Amino acid sequence: MAKETLTITDNRTGQSYEIPIQMGTIRAMDLRQIKANEGDFGLMTYDPGLTNTASTKSAITFIEGDKGILHYRGYPIEQLAEHSTFLETAYLVIYGELPTRQELAAWEFEIAHHSMVHTNIQNLIQAFRYDAHPMSVFISSVASLSTLYPEARNITDPELMRLQIVRMIAKVPTIAAYTYRHNQGWPINRPDDGLSYLGSFLRMMFRMTEVHFEPHPVLERALNVLFMLHVDHEQNCSTTVMRTIGSSQADPYSALAGAAAALYGPLHGAANEAVLRMLEQIGSPENVPAFIEKVKRGEGRLMGFGHRIYKNYDPRCRIIKKTAEAVFEVTGHNKLLDVALELEKAALADDYFVSRSLYPNVDFYSGLIYRAMNLPANLFTVMFAVPRTVGWIAQWVEMLKDPEQKLARPRQVYIGRELRPYVSLDKRG
Ligand code: CMC
Repeated sequence: MAKETLTITDNRTGQSYEIPIQMGTIRAMDLRQIKANEGDFGLMTYDPGLTNTASTKSAITFIEGDKGILHYRGYPIEQLAEHSTFLETAYLVIYGELPTRQELAAWEFEIAHHSMVHTNIQNLIQAFRYDAHPMSVFISSVASLSTLYPEARNITDPELMRLQIVRMIAKVPTIAAYTYRHNQGWPINRPDDGLSYLGSFLRMMFRMTEVHFEPHPVLERALNVLFMLHVDHEQNCSTTVMRTIGSSQADPYSALAGAAAALYGPLHGAANEAVLRMLEQIGSPENVPAFIEKVKRGEGRLMGFGHRIYKNYDPRCRIIKKTAEAVFEVTGHNKLLDVALELEKAALADDYFVSRSLYPNVDFYSGLIYRAMNLPANLFTVMFAVPRTVGWIAQWVEMLKDPEQKLARPRQVYIGRELRPYVSLDKRG
């Protein structure tokens, strides 16, 4: 039988090493024994962007990028999107199993009863300029929650940990909605525990003067689906930040703010905003070929296309496309959808994109749904951060319980100047 080991010959010394292979990986620390001479530090791997480094074992999300497969805790995303709700999926992702009827009712009740935010947070949001980017406001507000719950620094008490988990999931929609209302110059709506989690969110966002706000069932279901699709995506940039900050045993609100900050970048969670701006810039389907040529000349990227992991159609994109159709039946047709469809068709028929396995990703259609709901583009990343909070939490909990995890502290290859003496100011060129 073949041995599950790797034999490495160091051509500098002629010495051979046999290293165990476990679950398709070798341990980076096993390379440290490989030394060119006595005083040598030992071999390390060099992996900018951590593109080929497994930083953890995880039982949360399974992705098979080449086949376009995504599972949460073993359940296919397609089945969850069809049958589950956001809060039920959140429970599954964090605790590992689908809740019983009783567990689900208790979970929904608990979250509904923690959805109000302290007036300090409300005042903080009001203190920002009306045109402050909603993501900056969201990040600051989430970070500020740690000022209200200093006990959150105790990350070893299971009851306290559970309380912070509930608080985070309960309060992020309220913060998102208050941010949006402030941005628009409208008074806030408080959460309503007579509605579902997303019904209350829709009410906080959109209620104007009506006494009884009824969330539209199609929009509520669409948000459920969109939120489920965004819950987790294993070790992406923001999740890595959540785990990295968490590894220093900082409180979860501070870690959450860091993760949200990572999501804010246009190569990660702000791609949905960039997609919408790109579609607006293209303007109409006949301008698509010229735009594609520009991208191929290296003048910008096709936003919402390509993925570090999926080298096939992003399974979330297929579901979002269907959800978009249901939403447009309620909100009316959006002309940017025609541009998006034409762009997708043209890119998938073009060798530049096909040969690089560039397919639409989750951000390609999500922005169109949010635009159809009349949300401004700069709010889209917040709409990503709210459900992703669940994934960040699940990954944080898993990290804290993993005895193998340590303070995150990568190595570097120093390429700077050799040792040199300090030069006083009057002697410098
Ligand atoms: N448009 C045009 N060309 C692209 C694109 C794109 N969207 N993405 C990658 N390429 C090209 C790239 O120029 C390179 O070509 P070449 O080999 O000729 O130099 C090749 O494809 C490989 O690109 P890469 O940058 O090495 O690939 P990566 O795995 O590092 O990038 C990515 C992944 C998501 C950063 C990238 O595809 C991208 O910038 N996409 C647009 C932004 C976007 O939609 N981001 C959302 C990602 S999904 C949600 C999330 O996870 O947050």
